[in-house]
Amino acid sequence: MQFNFYTMSRKILVVTGGGDCPGLNAVIRGIVKSAASDGDWEVFGCIESFNGLLKDEIEIVPLTERSVAGIHVQGGTSIKTTNHGGPFQFPVRQSDGSWKVEDRSQLLKKRLEDLGIECVVNIGGDGSQRISLALSDLGVPIVGVPKTIDNDLSSTDFTFGFQTAVQIATEAVDKLVTTAASHNRVFILEVMGRDAGWIALHAAIAGGAEVCIIPEIPYDPQKIVDRINQRYAQNAGFCNIVIAEGAKGLDGKVTGSAPTAVGDPNIKLGGVGDKLKLQLQALGVEHDIRVTVLGHLQRGGIPVAYDRVLATAFGAHAFELVKNRKYRRMVAYNKTEIVDVPLEDAVKSANNVNPETSSLVRAAKNIGIAFGD
Ligand code: F6P
Repeated sequence: MQFNFYTMSRKILVVTGGGDCPGLNAVIRGIVKSAASDGDWEVFGCIESFNGLLKDEIEIVPLTERSVAGIHVQGGTSIKTTNHGGPFQFPVRQSDGSWKVEDRSQLLKKRLEDLGIECVVNIGGDGSQRISLALSDLGVPIVGVPKTIDNDLSSTDFTFGFQTAVQIATEAVDKLVTTAASHNRVFILEVMGRDAGWIALHAAIAGGAEVCIIPEIPYDPQKIVDRINQRYAQNAGFCNIVIAEGAKGLDGKVTGSAPTAVGDPNIKLGGVGDKLKLQLQALGVEHDIRVTVLGHLQRGGIPVAYDRVLATAFGAHAFELVKNRKYRRMVAYNKTEIVDVPLEDAVKSANNVNPETSSLVRAAKNIGIAFGD
């Protein structure tokens, strides 16, 4: 498809980066509709994160009111994404079949200038916003929008996608409760969240689990056994455990495997639920134990209404930043208001559950949820 980039209209390039997340399409639609109602704008989508401008052949698509109609309801991202590589670490296949990562940030900058793109809107998590900051340092006009089911960005009260993941995890707990009760079993549900325990904590409270294990509170397996025994002694006959994939034992080690994709900086977390099962059995738990790993189901499907609203408002605010040439900022949610913060602040630290001060941890403990501490 041929585009005419020499029109007078102002041009925005939208990028979705990192793992997909329910609500990405609602942000895209929010930007496009805001631009369309403002006036002479053209919005383009870069295919597969920045790769659409990093590969030998440019791959970007026009985003029009017509092409984004109704997409706020759809999960995933209509312009695709990737969670490895990027402008500073672009994977290139060598003639001997091996891979090398290459810095293509200058190529990206040149292509943006050649195309007359006025500003990039980069929708992504912490890794993506670090890329936003580094591109801004190179002089690329850029605005960030925070996304992740993990809710682990510190400058925003919530990221979109999180509530949908919590809803899916909670429905999983609800379902496991009925089968656990029917069979007098112990069920372990492993949920996502990387180094943050937000999904586990919310799902455990909402679903009524007896045990919640999060990365921020290293667990002692014996304490979990004690809670299971107490639960069975109450004649309840079953027990539900929610464990975050990034949970650590007292040795502080996470469970997972090395990344396989070139340019992927993250260890692939997974398997801590099975590990816990073996630990419980080794400590004498004789009840039937079953493990469910919820995995990518938490990232798929339609966003809940909350995430659609938040994502749409984020998109509309991102457009305002672009319109007013307020670059190097990330959109954020702060005490019910949509605001923006400097990108530097957005990537400074992560948002983790604070076991000492979290009112949710306190509430959970008050109602009998054990954390293994
Ligand atoms: O960051 C979002 C997330 O879904 C994490 O919760 C999870 O650990 C990771 O991405 C999974 O990544 P991948 O899609 O590469 O398996």
